[in-house]
Amino acid sequence: MAEIKSTALQGGFGRTQRRDAWWVENLPVWILLGGFGIYATLRAFKGDFFQTGPYLSPFYSPLIDADHHIWKWSPALLILIFPLGFRMTCYYYRKAYYRAFFADPPACAVGEPLGRKYKGETKFPFILQNLHRYFFYFALIFIVFLWKDTIEAFWYEGHFFVGVGSLVFLVNIILLSLYTFSCHSWRHLVGGKLDCFSCSVANQSRHGLWKKFSFLNERHMVFAWCSLVSVGFADFYVWMVASGLIKDIRLL
Ligand code: FES
Repeated sequence: MAEIKSTALQGGFGRTQRRDAWWVENLPVWILLGGFGIYATLRAFKGDFFQTGPYLSPFYSPLIDADHHIWKWSPALLILIFPLGFRMTCYYYRKAYYRAFFADPPACAVGEPLGRKYKGETKFPFILQNLHRYFFYFALIFIVFLWKDTIEAFWYEGHFFVGVGSLVFLVNIILLSLYTFSCHSWRHLVGGKLDCFSCSVANQSRHGLWKKFSFLNERHMVFAWCSLVSVGFADFYVWMVASGLIKDIRLL
């Protein structure tokens, strides 16, 4: 592999000895991540149709200054940096978009554009990727708010309620929770910085937890994509119902 890689790099952009369709793995990144980026930006700036009945769009939660007493623009812009920063600095997405959007390199053992000086994530702006663990702390707070919104999506006008939107919210928060708790930073918080797993009862417990979260961590890529789709769809659903284009069907 080392030999193939060095040949690819010497050969220039896109040169490789790989015979498989290496570019296919970039397709979902271009379509899904690129599409989500455009959609989420437009929706966040739009600033309307974000709440209806018991539903609050996850793009606008927690809802701050919805009546524009202090902030005259879309309330989503007040909180956007946190979920956006969490996704953009995610270890998995970094690999995906470095390949798909920056061709750095386009795939394993495929040549990248010539003349680049590799600096890794040691220089601005990519050094900011190291903020991921701090965005994770904020993600924990956001998960609490989104669970609260989901519980409220099952309660309307003083009664237990189940609409299609309630189920959309439930699926979304489960996927977002799986994405958050399969994060590498969380796994490190749970079981990292230990020299000996068996030396104390506390360390043994942390080891047990670490193994459980490692199971989730191995599936982080799947949760990253599924939660991206679900959070976009939950917002889209609220938008459609709030604007009157579709009607939320009450199931219970
Ligand atoms: Fe992906 Fe932390 S590594 S969310």
